[in-house]
Amino acid sequence: MTQDRLIIFDTTLRDGEQSPGASMTREEKLRIAHLLEKLRVDVIEAGFPAASPGDFEAVRAVARAVKDSRVCGLTRARAPDIDRAAEALKDATAPRIHTFIATSPIHMQHKLRMTPDQVVEHAIAAVRHARNHTDDVEFSAEDAGRSEIDFLCRVIEAAIDAGARTINIPDTVGYAIPQQFGATIATLLERVPNSDKAVFSVHCHNDLGLAVANSLAAVLNGARQVECTINALGERAGNASLEEIVMAVRTRQDIFPVETRIDATQIVPCSRLVSNVTGFPVQPNKAIVGANAFAHESGIHQDGVLKHRDTYEIMRAEDVGWSANRIVLGKHSGRNALRTRLLELGVEFDSAQLDDVFARFKDLADKKHEVFDEDLQALVSEAAPEE
Ligand code: KIV
Ligand code: ZN
Repeated sequence: MTQDRLIIFDTTLRDGEQSPGASMTREEKLRIAHLLEKLRVDVIEAGFPAASPGDFEAVRAVARAVKDSRVCGLTRARAPDIDRAAEALKDATAPRIHTFIATSPIHMQHKLRMTPDQVVEHAIAAVRHARNHTDDVEFSAEDAGRSEIDFLCRVIEAAIDAGARTINIPDTVGYAIPQQFGATIATLLERVPNSDKAVFSVHCHNDLGLAVANSLAAVLNGARQVECTINALGERAGNASLEEIVMAVRTRQDIFPVETRIDATQIVPCSRLVSNVTGFPVQPNKAIVGANAFAHESGIHQDGVLKHRDTYEIMRAEDVGWSANRIVLGKHSGRNALRTRLLELGVEFDSAQLDDVFARFKDLADKKHEVFDEDLQALVSEAAPEE
């Protein structure tokens, strides 16, 4: 099967930063942008230049520093915002202007106070204006997840005619359900007459915990760009997690007709940096980047993994940037794991001695979450190793 390219659009520095308490300085954004470039994301959305002078400077600094990824700035569908973004991006090797306007009845009526016709006019004018600055213009129909399909088709067709080369379908409030969201993408691709002139993209929020599932359903139905963030950082419950999408597509090549150009070994370093900069810890059981993602504690699993890693691992820890998987010694661990760890520490016991240490290990493990090497050394010093 020939694989299409799936464009990875990282918005950690823009939507991720909109997570309450996660705002970043110019220097912090630069450090993360360098690592995102090393991760080989296709597009780095560096910020919202019209939002503040600091964000303008941050986008400008990222645009000047990054060479191997496109650098994008977000704008409302207004000429002054677009000009500000163009100015911030002027030194970028590959600049992208990303302009958006809401298309759902709720947003048009209560937030924008515009008629649908006015929204279409604004979308066209914004895309045309952005095209005066760059060929690479992305248009987003904000709250597409709650927009009417006929109206979405109309706005998207107009945006493509006006020059948008990426059409983004955001599930802004995380309302979509995978099967339905996938069908929406398929319908848009089929019904918008000029859909072949643009890359269709999705941008899913995680309010129902479905951001990754919705993004993947969209990919299966023809989306070829996914907007996502490191550690799933983002407004409210966050955005789709970059690491989960990339590894799902890579691990299940039998299902997904796409590949990315991501260097997955940079995933864990990126996750750590974003966590350190924002002060948002990564939950231990977070897929791919959580401390327990490649750790095995129970005896049955440890025994299986020690015999053959594929028994309980569908990916290699080393492939996503961990130094190794982890066999964690605790109250569920078995003799095989204990013996293996002792051998790694240079201690070899005969079977009777191992029985004795194993019994004392279990007593200790009942009192602690994890038994560390120092604990084992103390247990061992009470028993006589073989000559
Ligand atoms: O969630 C959203 O709709 C957005 C757009 C501005 C792309 O972040
Ligand atoms: Zn968003």
